[in-house]
Amino acid sequence: MAYGRIPREFIDELLVRADVVDVINARVPLKKKGREYTACCPFHNEKTPSFTVSPNKQFYHCFGCGVHGSAISFLMEYEHLDFVEAIESLAESMGITVPREAGGKGPSDEQRQRSKDLFTLLQDASEFYQLQMKGSDKAVNYLKGRDLSGKISKRFGIGYSPAGWDNLYKPFLNNYPEQQLVDSGLVIKNDEDPNNVKIYDRYRDRIMFPIRNRKGQTIGFGGRVLGDDVPKYINSPETSVFHKGSELYGFYEARMHTKKLERIIVVEGYMDVIALAQFGVSYAVATLGTATTQDHIKQLFRAVPEVIFCFDGDRAGREAAWRALENALPMMQDGKEIRFMFLPDGEDPDTQIRKIGQQAFEALYGEASSLTAYFSENLHDKFNITSDEGKSRFIQEASKLLQQMPDTLIKDQLVSRLAKQTNIEERVLRKRLSKLQSTPRGSSERNYESEHPFEPSQPISRLSNREVRQTPIRYAISLLLSNPELVQFVENIEQIVLSELPGSDLLTTLIETIQESPKINGAALLERWRNTEFEAPLIHLMKWQPESDDESVLRCEFEDCLRHIRKRANEIKVEKLLHKERTGGLIDQEKQELLFLLQQKDD
Ligand code: GTP
Ligand code: MN
Repeated sequence: MAYGRIPREFIDELLVRADVVDVINARVPLKKKGREYTACCPFHNEKTPSFTVSPNKQFYHCFGCGVHGSAISFLMEYEHLDFVEAIESLAESMGITVPREAGGKGPSDEQRQRSKDLFTLLQDASEFYQLQMKGSDKAVNYLKGRDLSGKISKRFGIGYSPAGWDNLYKPFLNNYPEQQLVDSGLVIKNDEDPNNVKIYDRYRDRIMFPIRNRKGQTIGFGGRVLGDDVPKYINSPETSVFHKGSELYGFYEARMHTKKLERIIVVEGYMDVIALAQFGVSYAVATLGTATTQDHIKQLFRAVPEVIFCFDGDRAGREAAWRALENALPMMQDGKEIRFMFLPDGEDPDTQIRKIGQQAFEALYGEASSLTAYFSENLHDKFNITSDEGKSRFIQEASKLLQQMPDTLIKDQLVSRLAKQTNIEERVLRKRLSKLQSTPRGSSERNYESEHPFEPSQPISRLSNREVRQTPIRYAISLLLSNPELVQFVENIEQIVLSELPGSDLLTTLIETIQESPKINGAALLERWRNTEFEAPLIHLMKWQPESDDESVLRCEFEDCLRHIRKRANEIKVEKLLHKERTGGLIDQEKQELLFLLQQKDD
């Protein structure tokens, strides 16, 4: 959903007005300890608190598992929201409306109001169906017959739509306009014959599975017949709030059940997700009768580093797996893992886990194929590489697929594997591939480390807290992040630029940013660099603790940093002037300047 950007100033303002201590304390009770607050970390299991919140920096950090960030990051992590949703939630809790810049393609206020009404309607419907379930022996017996526990039915909000044409339509018409009932997908309007317009419930005599979005709002339903009629399942049509290609059934429930998900297993059906959850595999999701899309994979990778696709062992299952692989290729990143697992013929995850239980089911992951293995095995099966032509077609096909992959270690490994498999020398194969790929993609990836503001030989991201040398620039940045008001003591920003010290450009930008928005705090500053190469080093520096809280001490330390920087700037100027003197001579003004600088050098 792309709509009008949230103005930068608003995010700053919000982070200045919000208090990270309040935001966290409302969810995880904090204890005051010195100038900070602590708690047992909500993101990993621990007995002694290593999660600390600094009111000064408006920043939290766990020394145990390393999570950290602003009030916005906390809401993103804790409530599983994306960036925009976290801002909206924070603003809402403070009674502020989020403004949008003009020019976005997004929904108007009116459209947003309509979605809001639709969410209410769908939630009402979900509750209605759940109530009907309680009143129907037939439906309850069906669930019992499938060995679903009451607890799990409740977690997934399973309901029942009674037989009949207007069980939902009629009472809901008291609260909702007809058009909205149609828009929600719950009611069908057939007006082919204007003299005989028919309006009726879409779901009749079906077990109802509410589909929820990442916020837990009901956005649609799947409905299953109780017997053997066809169609077995009816899904909600695409509506303004339900898009099959970007929703995953069970994702919300999985995230609610497990605070820190480590892996997700993707299966095919509603009942698979639910049965797995009942047997302890509460991290399963299902696509909604569609192939796995790139959008799905993007969302999954945002949540976990490991995604396992689980398919039936039959031909349809293999085809679905290959489609998932094709869509996954452009989304691959190092550090993320995809695996493919195939069940024995005739089994689906629901039947399989009932047969063998959680432990044995999870043990099957060990036999699942990695992306690289599945990629090469599948191609191998498709082409006969014992012939030269087969080999050539194999390479052509592989090249087409590899082209979609960003430059990653995984891609490298894949090429090595293909080389072994085809018995082509790796070097030759790489050359061949790069010829086939006339317009390589993904190679524009920037190399952050060499462009790092800090010494390139010492990428800060690889160093632990203690190992990072405290240079004047780094310390100045760190001091500004926790005490932006120190900016008033910067006199000559030119000198920082002149110093040519690593990081001087970042420090300058930081100073200018604070000068433009004097009320800004550390958390809001960090937000400016979210998702940039500077985010990690800034976070690192944010964690440094100054020796003291005392304002005058901080000022001294900051001014000391500036003095060092100035000294370095002078040295550089002196070197330049001396060089000029040797090579071309100096004009009077330059001579005076040199003299002045040389005198200063010793103070
Ligand atoms: P059970 O028979 O209840 O165990 O369901 P299942 O999940 O094993 O069903 P199946 O493997 O047949 O289908 C997997 C998924 O495909 C379902 O969860 C639905 O999302 C979808 N699906 C299956 N049958 C239909 C159908 O007839 N129509 C539509 N639209 N989707 C279907
Ligand atoms: Mn099944």
